Amino acid sequence: MLRFARDDKEGAAVYGFRFRGCDERTEPHGTAVRDTDSGPQGGDKLVCLTAYTAATARHLDAEVDLLLVGDSLAMTVYGFDSTLPVTLDMMIAHGAAVVRATSHALITVDLPFGSYQESPQQGFRSAARVMAETGSGAVKLEGGQEMAETVAFLTRRGIPVMGHVGLTPQAVNALGGYRSRGHEAGERDKILRDGVAIAEAGAFSLVIEGVAESLARELTEAVAIPTIGIGGSPACDGQILVIDDMLGLFAEFTPKFVKRYRLLGDDIRAAAREYAEDVRHGRFPAAEHTYPGPKRAKAAE
Ligand code: KIV
Repeated sequence: MLRFARDDKEGAAVYGFRFRGCDERTEPHGTAVRDTDSGPQGGDKLVCLTAYTAATARHLDAEVDLLLVGDSLAMTVYGFDSTLPVTLDMMIAHGAAVVRATSHALITVDLPFGSYQESPQQGFRSAARVMAETGSGAVKLEGGQEMAETVAFLTRRGIPVMGHVGLTPQAVNALGGYRSRGHEAGERDKILRDGVAIAEAGAFSLVIEGVAESLARELTEAVAIPTIGIGGSPACDGQILVIDDMLGLFAEFTPKFVKRYRLLGDDIRAAAREYAEDVRHGRFPAAEHTYPGPKRAKAAE
């Protein structure tokens, strides 16, 4: 279990997180402290994947440190062409399903677009609903310096927050697409300042998505919390992939940073084709797939 609680010197409970490979010291507000000797930088990387359903989460739970119920479900599960249409109610329904199916990984649920950007108070109300109604251990939100106040507001009130900087899909319209970022000095400095601001505001970890490799490396060195790369750098403390991407289930487009470990989309199509053939040729259902009833009495002669 990665979630833990302990008493501080004054006897008040301090809640924190311990990623495997991180040291157990915690700062108040649920901040994991990276141990540079034996922690992720010492070789033990944080393994993270997204999960949206109980069925998938059950398979992944024992294999990973963290499962993110990402708002990428808007595209992978619901077929939208961006993450913007997903609602808080949808995130809560999927978050609760994933929590019910797991006992090991730290479950983190994305706050969807429009549920936290207005004010720290709005962010708190949304995050509190997520925590109370799903039982998740943390929430994630996108954004940099402009979100630091909200991250501090939430963490001071007992809500562990994972940050997300770089290519932030909820801002796709403002960023002008899904291109990788931080290749030019001005943008690079801004993303660095964003990451540092979120870490200093109390986030317990930081997703760095779709940026120049050297920038992800520099940001990892600049912050004291674990960084989780997705199109980041091997120097990040951990990695995350969208489960549908790594299993070959989402074929609409494949970002450069995706490694496909399986082609389950091909398997699903092949299985459906076999089933159709069996049904059409009377091979399914066979006797072993039916419930034998009472024997029929012989007709009188
Ligand atoms: O929504 C999501 O799946 C994410 C990951 C890509 C980090 O935010």
